[in-house]
Amino acid sequence: METKSRKLTIIGAGAVGCAAAQWAISRNICEEIVLVDVVEGLAVGKALDLSQSAPLCGFSGNIIGTSDYALTKDSDVIIVTAGLARKPGMSRDDLLEKNVQIVKDVTQKAAQNSPNACFIVITNPIDAMVYTVFKVSGFPKNKVVGMAGVLDSARYRTFIAKELGVAPKDVSALVMGIHGDFMLPLVRLATVGGIPITELLSKEKIDAIVKRTQQAGAEIVGHLKTGSAFVTPGLSAIEMAQSILNDEKRILPCAAYLEGEFGISGVFLGVPVVLGKNGVEKIVEFELTSEEKELLSRSVEAVKKQVEATGL
Ligand code: APR
Repeated sequence: METKSRKLTIIGAGAVGCAAAQWAISRNICEEIVLVDVVEGLAVGKALDLSQSAPLCGFSGNIIGTSDYALTKDSDVIIVTAGLARKPGMSRDDLLEKNVQIVKDVTQKAAQNSPNACFIVITNPIDAMVYTVFKVSGFPKNKVVGMAGVLDSARYRTFIAKELGVAPKDVSALVMGIHGDFMLPLVRLATVGGIPITELLSKEKIDAIVKRTQQAGAEIVGHLKTGSAFVTPGLSAIEMAQSILNDEKRILPCAAYLEGEFGISGVFLGVPVVLGKNGVEKIVEFELTSEEKELLSRSVEAVKKQVEATGL
């Protein structure tokens, strides 16, 4: 019996798109990768470079670069990174006007070639761009998801581990809400080797870690000056793509469309979800404290404003 090859399209062959492709190759998560960019030749050149890493990392799939969406046909997962990145002093919201046009354009072209794909959206501001992909594609809500929580939680876990001098992989933590200043790194649920961080760190230390997590993207932009983070954003998207392509059913924090979960409706927001072959297979709800609810409501207000600005 012929087995269908798993096909991943990455739109935008810039910093994040190429990092995602590189992680996909090194993790061997699919048989075909199509890298797409509007700039003639850019994706072709980057794909050639990436494909030449295959003998060194053991990837035996096919990697192509193109500006032609016909080659993306029947993709299983489409990662959207096309758009502008931040420069120092810019918030993610400052990107909205330009990126909404770009994301609309790429969604139309990609969706018509791959009607059964699952979209993973990275372009900022993520929570509004994922809404844009949802509206423009007409895809069911489970097939459209935003990448933010995996990245924000990885940052949170890193800072906790550094503070305690322990292995980052032994830190378990969840960041919910918007990918922006109002994101909610949950303190109550963060653990190290099963022990709550509140048992191990002072309130002052925890507050500083939470603040640094909320500002982690801007901290990197401030140093880079010409762009934003790309290595961990790319890997975070691949963590999600892998769970979908391999039907792993990982529980990962992702921007999912909410219809009453956590008392929120009509927006995409970072919540824990089960990711499998059908995309967002479940939103994992749990009881928040009244303080957490209040903090999350700030995310909702901020996302609603972003969505309003998309004009959709
Ligand atoms: N179609 C396809 N590709 C496009 C389009 C389009 N209509 N418009 C722009 N692009 C491509 C650019 O040519 C560029 O190669 O998107 C790529 C973006 O790459 P970078 O400028 O390197 O930006 P990057 O750091 O990858 O960030 C991309 O992800 O994390 C977010 O905030 C970030 O919104 C930004 C996005």
